[in-house]
Amino acid sequence: MKNNTLTLIDNRTGETYKYPIFEATRGPSVVDMRTFFQDTGMFTYDPGFTSTASCESSITFINGEKGELRYRGIPIEELALKHSYMETCYLLLNEKLPNEKELLDFDLEIRHRAYLHEGLRYLFNAFPDNTHPMATLSAAVTALSAFYNDHIEMDDEAEYQEMARRIISKIPTIAAFAYRHSLGIPFIQPDIDLGFTKNFLTMMRAYPGGKMHLCENGHEEIKDIEVRALDTIFTLHADHEQNASTTVVRGVASTGAHPYVAIASGISALWGRAHGGANESVIAQLEYIGSVDNVEAFIERAKDPNDDFRLMGFGHRVYKNFDPRAKILKALQDELRDELNLDTELMGIARKIEETALNDDYFISRNLYPNIDFYTGIILTALQIPKSMFTPIFVIGRTVGWVTQWSEFKKDKTSKIARPRQLYTGA
Ligand code: CMC
Repeated sequence: MKNNTLTLIDNRTGETYKYPIFEATRGPSVVDMRTFFQDTGMFTYDPGFTSTASCESSITFINGEKGELRYRGIPIEELALKHSYMETCYLLLNEKLPNEKELLDFDLEIRHRAYLHEGLRYLFNAFPDNTHPMATLSAAVTALSAFYNDHIEMDDEAEYQEMARRIISKIPTIAAFAYRHSLGIPFIQPDIDLGFTKNFLTMMRAYPGGKMHLCENGHEEIKDIEVRALDTIFTLHADHEQNASTTVVRGVASTGAHPYVAIASGISALWGRAHGGANESVIAQLEYIGSVDNVEAFIERAKDPNDDFRLMGFGHRVYKNFDPRAKILKALQDELRDELNLDTELMGIARKIEETALNDDYFISRNLYPNIDFYTGIILTALQIPKSMFTPIFVIGRTVGWVTQWSEFKKDKTSKIARPRQLYTGA
C-alpha cells in the first residue's frame, strides 16, 4: 500500500518525524508541516515562499515548467480566444462558464453597478495634480469600504456575490476617475449602454458629453479590435494563483478586515515594479534605451552581476518556460500591428531585445523568457493608454481574482490568521 508520508531525520539526535503528504489534483503534492514546530521545536525556513504552499485552492493552476495556466480547469488559451472577460469573471466567481441567460444577467448587473456614490467623488479632489493613479485607486478602494460596511460580515453566497460584483463593476470607474483627476479633466460617467471594456475605454477617452475626439470625418469611434485587445488583456490578468498581491489580499482577509480594504492592499502590493508595475517599467525602459543600436549594451548591463539593471518584462518566479499569457499577447500584437500602427521605434527596440535575450546563454540558462508585462506595455501604448494607467489596467483585470481568492479564504473553515515565524539573528 502507498505510504503517503514523508520522514525527516534530525541528524543531531537521530530522532525521526513523519508528516502526511497531500496529493494535488494537478501539480506538486504538499507535505503537511502544520505540527512541525510542535514536534521539533524548530521552524521551517523559506523566505519568499519558494517551496511553501500557503493555502488550498481550486481557482487557478500554473505549471511553470510547461508554461501552462488554467482558471477553474480551463486552459487560458481557450478563455482568451473564445470567451470574454465577463465570462471569465463569471467562471472564476461561479466555478463554471455562464449560459447565455446567466451571462446576460451578469453583464447587466455589472453595467448597473458601475456608478460611484457621489460622496466618493470628493475624495479624488483631495489628491494633488499629477498624482499617480495607483495611489488614488488604492485610497478610493479603501474608501469604498466605508460606503458598503455591511460586507464585513457575510453569511450566504448571495452576499458574497453582491460584494464581488460591486467591486468588479466599480473598479474601472475609479481607475478612469483617478486618471482624469491626475490630468485635471472632467470625469466621464459610466454609460449603461456599453459593455465593461468599451465603457472603460470611453471613460478614459471621451470628451464631456461622452463623445469621442472630433475630426473632419466625424467622431473617432473606439474600434472593435481595441475593445477585443483590452478585453483579452483583462482576461489574461484575471487571476494568477498565490502571487505577491494575492498573498497580501489573503493575509489581510485573515485578520477579518473588510474585503475592499484587502483589495486595496493588493493594489498597493501590485504597484511595485517586480510585480504589476513592471508593465509601466517596460515602456519606461524602452524609452530610456532609446534606440535599437543601444540594445546590446543594455543586455550586457542586465547580465552584469555588479549592475542592478534588470530587463523589465523578463523572468518570472513560477514560469521557467514561455509565460502562456505572453504567447497569446505576442500573437495579438502581431495581429494589431497593421490596424493600430504598431511599427514604432519602441516596437523595434522591443523586438531587438526579445531576439537578443532569447538567443543569449545568460537568459537561456536562467529560463528568463519575456513575461506578460513585456507585451502589455506595447499593446496598451497602441491603444492610446498612457503609461501611468498600465498598472491600474492590471488592477481592473485582477480584481476578480483577488475577490474570488478572498471569498475562498473566508469560506475555508480551516483558515487561520497569517503569522509566519522568523530566524532571529539579532542581539
Ligand atoms: N533581467 C536580468 N536578470 C534577471 C532578470 C531580469 N529581468 N530576472 C532574473 N534575473 C536573474 C537574476 O539576476 C538571477 O541571476 P543569478 O542566478 O545569476 O543571481 C536569476 O535570474 C534568478 O533571479 P531571481 O531574482 O532570483 O528570480 P525571482 O524568481 O526571485 O524573481 C522576478 C522573479 C519576476 C521578480 C524577476 O525575474 C524580475 O525582477 N524580473 C523583472 C521584473 C518583471 O518583469 N516583473 C514582472 C513579473 S510578471 C507579472 C507578475 O506576475 O507580476
